[in-house]
Amino acid sequence: MLFSVCLMILVSNAAAAIQDLSGKMFVFPQQTKTAYAKLTPSKTSFSAITVCHRSLTDLKRDHVLFSMSTSTNSNEFLVFYKFTANEIQPHIKTGLASYGGLDYKLNTWHSICTTWDSTVGLVQLWFNGQQLTKKYITPGTGVSTTPSIILGQEQDSHGGSFDINQSFVGMMTDVHMWDYVLSACEIQKYVSELSFTPGNVLNWAALDFLIRDRVLIENKQLYCQ
Ligand SMILES: *[C@@H]1O[C@H](CO)[C@@H](O)[C@H](O)[C@H]1NC(C)=O
Repeated sequence: MLFSVCLMILVSNAAAAIQDLSGKMFVFPQQTKTAYAKLTPSKTSFSAITVCHRSLTDLKRDHVLFSMSTSTNSNEFLVFYKFTANEIQPHIKTGLASYGGLDYKLNTWHSICTTWDSTVGLVQLWFNGQQLTKKYITPGTGVSTTPSIILGQEQDSHGGSFDINQSFVGMMTDVHMWDYVLSACEIQKYVSELSFTPGNVLNWAALDFLIRDRVLIENKQLYCQ
């Protein structure tokens, strides 16, 4: 107990450090507006983006899955779950696309990939490997100012203004981000947990991050080996 408390304090006070989180997950164990993981991307300007993650929750309310803000747009690139509509909504800048009719079961791991190409203005969601419709959203400009990427909380301003009722409670793993639209083949490899090209912007196996408040790093292994 004492050890884990010490470890937690060490982790919370640590400066950003690069870690290989392969086989591990972030646990967000309670509803707060203070606990989060802040990820430092290796690039800060983009004309296209793919973000993939796996998450598990039993929340019966709206919640954030991935929040990237800039000083211009608090929802520069946001993946949000809207409970009443049962929709996953990628928000890009001031636009959003809605993906409904999904089997977003509670207490089940879901692999979610979101792609965006700013030149044509198309967004696409892949839900557990299922290809969903490409939709038109905010074309023209990419991302050119330094982003703030946060897991666990939704940024209503650049780097802050969290809403406890949009916080994520549950587990999250295998967060990757690329500065291009991943091919269908690469997405299937990611979903199937086969060997895939790791994110060149965020790589779960070499993640530059820091944790604030109660976010724990645990093994995600479910079975004996
Ligand atoms: C969060 O939701 C609860 C229950 O619906 C509500 O009572 C509370 O005011 C909300 N808090 C904020 C900060 O919106």
